[in-house]
Amino acid sequence: MYIANEKRYDKMIYRRCGKSGLKLSAVSLGLWKNFGHKGYFANMEGMVHTAFDLGITHFDLANNYGNPYNGSAEENFGRILDGMRQYRDELCISTKAGYEMWAGPYGDRNGSRKYLTASLDQSLKRMGLEYVDIFYHHIFDPDTPLEETALALDNAVRQGKALYVGVSNYGSAQTAEISAIFRELHTPFIVNQPSYSMLNRWIENDGLDKYARENGIGLAVFSPLYQGFLTNRYLNGVPEDSRIGKGETWLGEQLNEQMISRLNSLNGIAERRGQTLSQMALSWVLHNPAVTTVLIGASRSSQIIENAACIEKLDFSDEEIAEIEALLR
Ligand SMILES: NC(=O)c1ccc[n+]([C@@H]2O[C@H](COP(=O)([O-])OP(=O)(O)OC[C@H]3O[C@@H](n4cnc5c(N)ncnc54)[C@H](OP(=O)(O)O)[C@@H]3O)[C@@H](O)[C@H]2O)c1
Repeated sequence: MYIANEKRYDKMIYRRCGKSGLKLSAVSLGLWKNFGHKGYFANMEGMVHTAFDLGITHFDLANNYGNPYNGSAEENFGRILDGMRQYRDELCISTKAGYEMWAGPYGDRNGSRKYLTASLDQSLKRMGLEYVDIFYHHIFDPDTPLEETALALDNAVRQGKALYVGVSNYGSAQTAEISAIFRELHTPFIVNQPSYSMLNRWIENDGLDKYARENGIGLAVFSPLYQGFLTNRYLNGVPEDSRIGKGETWLGEQLNEQMISRLNSLNGIAERRGQTLSQMALSWVLHNPAVTTVLIGASRSSQIIENAACIEKLDFSDEEIAEIEALLR
């Protein structure tokens, strides 16, 4: 039987999600890859236990996560929870709906009340939960009125199936639009989930980080390691068992000589800071005051241990920031 580490809250940092009362661990674990039935259950379970033992309280899922079929990550997470349900109130569990999930018009990529309501019920069943802590609309849908999407999320809260709601992959203008509706409804809308990393800074160009900060919305940012680029994974080639090696990402073609040389230069700065490249990349993301938490992915527990230690050095000198900026330009 799993017994959590007694010292799990000694080191991790918890940050308030926007202006809400909810605190999230600065490092969170996402279950997009490596948690479907294609993986080894013992490895998945080990990763969740390792994360929780390190004080990671926030676990991020979505209806469509998992290989070989959508929903298998939630099924496995439900099984893992079966061995640790005594800790349910120490966990913040999120799920989402919005991308293609099941056949036909109601499970297609959309933001309808029909889809979101049915999907959340399915997610709760797969994970064996009465409620999730955060329910997200996964991607903006230009064809559904935002009022409808907002009402569906609001309804999930009123029904007690979600405590808070969020949106993901919404730009600042879309976030502002749905925020106005949530304000009228008094919906606990607390978080946006965008991608963000040293190699992907669209939220800065869009102004989403500024908007979120000014409006009390938290940012839970995904792919903070650019799916593994910003780690020691690819400094000397492409390992077979890596995400690129397994052909599991569309980003592989960006790994050219110039990119490898840039990653090695960043690694040099990380070494001087006494960090690994992944730790520095996560510290850099957390250095943006708009960011509440980094949602990391992992294929093994050792990566989680390495990454969680990023919180030991979150500060950057002006010189380090300038040197990094020069490399990212
Ligand atoms: N809302 C959305 O649309 C959306 C989209 C994507 C992701 N997400 C969320 O964000 C989470 C994280 O996304 P992500 O997996 O792309 O994040 P990521 O942290 O950028 O990449 C994770 C991958 O990097 C490699 N890695 C991590 N730590 C490492 C270390 N210390 N040393 C070497 N390699 C390391 C592993 O790949 P290997 O397999 O090569 O070991 C790992 O699977 C997802 O699980 C999901 O919850 C949300």
